[in-house]
Amino acid sequence: MVKVLFVCLGNICRSPTAEGVFRAVVEKAGLRDLIHTDSAGTSGWHVGNPPDQRAIRAAGRRGIDIRDLRARQVTKADFQQFDYVLAMDKANLQDLTHLCPSGYGGQLSLFLDYAADRDEAEVPDPYYGGEEGFERVLELIEAASEGLLTDIRRRHLSG
Ligand code: 4NP
Repeated sequence: MVKVLFVCLGNICRSPTAEGVFRAVVEKAGLRDLIHTDSAGTSGWHVGNPPDQRAIRAAGRRGIDIRDLRARQVTKADFQQFDYVLAMDKANLQDLTHLCPSGYGGQLSLFLDYAADRDEAEVPDPYYGGEEGFERVLELIEAASEGLLTDIRRRHLSG
């Protein structure tokens, strides 16, 4: 099983959206038995909560249901489980770098590193903005999800 963890600050907007979008990409590719997806927050502020209603609506407009997801906080132990730990922004990446055990053998990076033709490095925090911020989050996440699947196929599933 290849395991992918998406991480943002609260685990109620960006990372559950990434989990939902990538889960749909994996299902469409028929790889549900080979790729496990999860998400977490660097903070514990919203632990146990479902995604933000605006994130639920934005994903729903794309036919993606993320209502089942619940927030949790990332832990050091996640690095023993996950082959990919993917940060939404540079602050998340910095927090994860501090948590990451030395000698981690997986991929710790910005999620948008996997997007082809990208202008942005980060998925911007939509929490204090309007609905359009959540649309932008979805566009960026969709662009990176295809590239991530290509990378997983190349590193783990080829041959
Ligand atoms: P997320 O968005 O990191 O994409 O889940 C946020 C959610 C909550 C807060 C900030 C960002 N907050 O300040 O509570």
